[in-house]
Amino acid sequence: MANLSTTYMGIELKNPLIVAASSISNQVDRVKRAEEYGAGALVIRSIFEEQIHADGMTMQDFLERMANISPEINASFYPPVEYGGPREHMMWVEKTRRAVSMPIFASLNAVNPGAWVEYAKQLEETGIDGLEVNYYTVNADINRTGSDMEKALYDIVSGVKDAVKIPVAVKLGSAYTSIANVVNELDKRGANAVVLFNRFLQPTIDIDTEELTNQMTYSHPEEMRMPLRWVALLYGRVKLDMALNTGVHTGRDIARGLLGGATVVQVASALLQNGLPYISTMLMDLQGWMGEKGYESIDEFRGNLSQQNVEDPFGFERAHYMKLLMSQE
Ligand SMILES: Cc1cc2nc3c(=O)[nH]c(=O)nc-3n(C[C@H](O)[C@H](O)[C@H](O)COP(=O)(O)O)c2cc1C
Repeated sequence: MANLSTTYMGIELKNPLIVAASSISNQVDRVKRAEEYGAGALVIRSIFEEQIHADGMTMQDFLERMANISPEINASFYPPVEYGGPREHMMWVEKTRRAVSMPIFASLNAVNPGAWVEYAKQLEETGIDGLEVNYYTVNADINRTGSDMEKALYDIVSGVKDAVKIPVAVKLGSAYTSIANVVNELDKRGANAVVLFNRFLQPTIDIDTEELTNQMTYSHPEEMRMPLRWVALLYGRVKLDMALNTGVHTGRDIARGLLGGATVVQVASALLQNGLPYISTMLMDLQGWMGEKGYESIDEFRGNLSQQNVEDPFGFERAHYMKLLMSQE
């Protein structure tokens, strides 16, 4: 049997499938089941700055007030707790950490730089193995430049890195002018990994009611192409680890990500759609593929199809843009 073990941010994982931050972590029982079905690690859903301010408010008040602020805040994500403030979150992270033996990461989505550092420290105290900085932000200020946004991100990451000893991953959206440069700058500031990419939920307009609607939708396998391209372009050029996220739906997708150069993959939609037993299906498929190819360990093939290792290094950049467009009738 092929050996699926790997190391992510210096932490040993029995395999590269990490359960992404999602409603799966809302119940400790589900986290235990994710471990039983073989998950390599799990990220607990984020604590949000809005939630921090909500201390003392009822969960319902909080959800009503915040529904339009952050699209990741949705009643269906939350565990049935009466209050959604930080104390409850910390207690629950600690309880989850103690309930399983696989590595557990916590996630933080703050706005105010002081809050990032303060809550990063509190999360570290819960005993988690690493922290994910969920930099979920949409820059709609017409006076704020891309460089301003990037500087804010770097300051947060430097602050969090200085404040905690556990490894820190930075989960990014894909809307940067130079993703490659942002990842390189995070690498220089000591980030241990990047998660490429968060999936930003997009509101739409209901033309019958003429209202804005925010609906939770799951990812589609096609969406994996963008993170795959960036992982493959960056592999071998940065020291930090790369978790490929968005659109990983099968064991073969995991193989694809690893061939491109991902250290691990993170999965949410496929597990929410197919149930937690699907973790073992995905892992068996990965193992089956490795068996067919004669690979005994992941290191034998990781990055083999990254930009540095493919015959056509431009394939990842232009993706034969002109040829493909011209070939269509
Ligand atoms: C129900 C649900 C809740 C989520 N909650 C969080 C969260 O709290 N923090 C976070 O960083 N991402 C959150 N995400 C995003 C996922 O971690 C992941 O980045 C995204 O779904 C893309 O991966 P996928 O294609 O496997 O779904 C959530 C996703 C879903 C579907």
